[in-house]
Amino acid sequence: MPALALGAALLALAPFVQAAAAPGLDARQSITALTSEQITTFTPYTWYASAGYCAASETLSWTCGSNCEANPDFEPVASGGNGDSTQYWFVGYDPTLDTVVVSHQGTDPDEILPLITDGDAVLGNLNSTLFPGVSSDVEVHQGFADAQASTASDVLSAVQTTMSKYSTSSIALVGHSLGAAISLLDAVYLPLHISDATYTYVGYGLPRVGNQAFANYVDALSASVTHINNEEDPIPICPGMSLGYVHPSGEVHIEDSGEWAACPGQDNPSTQCIVGDVPTILDGDESDHDGPYNGVTMGCSS
Ligand SMILES: *[C@@H]1O[C@H](CO)[C@@H](O)[C@H](O)[C@H]1NC(C)=O
Repeated sequence: MPALALGAALLALAPFVQAAAAPGLDARQSITALTSEQITTFTPYTWYASAGYCAASETLSWTCGSNCEANPDFEPVASGGNGDSTQYWFVGYDPTLDTVVVSHQGTDPDEILPLITDGDAVLGNLNSTLFPGVSSDVEVHQGFADAQASTASDVLSAVQTTMSKYSTSSIALVGHSLGAAISLLDAVYLPLHISDATYTYVGYGLPRVGNQAFANYVDALSASVTHINNEEDPIPICPGMSLGYVHPSGEVHIEDSGEWAACPGQDNPSTQCIVGDVPTILDGDESDHDGPYNGVTMGCSS
């Protein structure tokens, strides 16, 4: 079963994630390459992230061209957004993986870079109505928080409907770019309202979303968290660590050789991982942002 296969793949990564490098240790020693089988287990999630770019009307009828055809058995339940002021999103059920799938639309490097490289990268608290009980030490990018808040209650009720209709307690959250950031906030939000579920998060080209306390909060979730970065994509190194931003653990970095490296810990500085490979935005290549991620280039091409 692919769900178990992904679980096994992620479990196989877990020892390396837990072996986060202590200061002074050579992090490179615990970086390992994913097997081709492990890489392939991500493919359905990659297509769901890409389908997040398709119009709400297309994902609701699951007629979004190649992105939809790649997961032909998907059962859509709800969708929304307008692709402009609110990113598109959709929720439904994947019978092969036996999981609810939630996907949020991303955006172009030209649109997201201004949000994460200048004065708009302001950290602040999560809305305590949506995120009851989360410590005020936890701070996140306010633009991302606003984007997540604008669809939060619709997504929550669609997930509850899907869980009940298909009798599943597994929830997969995916997205690329801004969509990866919104879905990461969903991975914090949804368990506060639906505790009896198993969460899997797979983000692509994820920018940094919050501060050290946020990264630690995400690392402490029972969710499996993976964020996949492609080659010299500059988005995942923004907003900068100098602004107080920290990535949660769970990075996988696609190297120029095509190898997928599992990078343990938060912001692993190895040159095999995004922080070491792309020290500044000038070292980045925006054209790497959309992929390809094992053959899948993000965007709706219906
Ligand atoms: C927090 O979220 C609730 C529910 O969506 C909303 O009514 C409220 O206005 C929000 N508060 C702030 C300060 O944005």
